Amino acid sequence: MSVQGVAQFRKAIKIYDKTKTVNEADLKTILTTGALAPSSNGLEPVKVIIKNQKLKEQAALKCFMPGNQQKVKDAPVLALLLGANGDYLTSDEFLTNLLGRIFTEETLKTNVNGMSNYLKSYPSPDMFAYEQAHIVASFMTLQAADLKIGSSIMGEITRIETNYFFSEHQIVDQTKWHLALGMLFGYYDDKVTGTSFPRLRIAEAEFVTIF
Ligand SMILES: Cc1cc2nc3c(=O)[nH]c(=O)nc-3n(C[C@H](O)[C@H](O)[C@H](O)COP(=O)(O)O)c2cc1C
Repeated sequence: MSVQGVAQFRKAIKIYDKTKTVNEADLKTILTTGALAPSSNGLEPVKVIIKNQKLKEQAALKCFMPGNQQKVKDAPVLALLLGANGDYLTSDEFLTNLLGRIFTEETLKTNVNGMSNYLKSYPSPDMFAYEQAHIVASFMTLQAADLKIGSSIMGEITRIETNYFFSEHQIVDQTKWHLALGMLFGYYDDKVTGTSFPRLRIAEAEFVTIF
């Protein structure tokens, strides 16, 4: 499909067919495309965790608002998009690792220091990773659509319960990472009422001003 064809096909899925799984090759394709998303300064401050069926049920109840819980339970794949915490993002450890792919020795130290100061001046260093997580989500949702796989992006997260859930199952090093977004992937049946909402978009003339 063309990129626009994929964008036309994609929609937020509200009800999944729980009898159909997403095969591993397709899931890998979705994740690989997510990893290809651009990130500010190439810092890639986003990681993805895929939950297995047992933990997914618990994650549905613990990490998401009631409006999301049923679809998390039903969809075959739950992806948790983690963003780097501000303190970790601006640390020598994180920045040396990432920038060490480009610079060495003294130049690396100078760039780590400069980048750390730049990121600390950001309105909120925690927000930096949220923004990048949304770009990763865009890439993954479009890739899924290209495979005719339905997807949902979920921002309605219950943060305190999520922290408990991560601690209980030792899933995430919370000194470094936080849950930024949830995503679901799976198949759906358009004949089931409520599977998606009618497409609503503001008029293009309102969206775009050319001057
Ligand atoms: C960042 C973000 C967060 C969202 N969070 C939720 C959510 O928590 N629950 C949900 O049902 N839909 C969520 N959505 C889906 C939107 O409601 C949906 O994309 C929008 O209404 C447009 O519908 P469409 O995607 O079918 O065109 C989210 C979408 C985005 C981009």
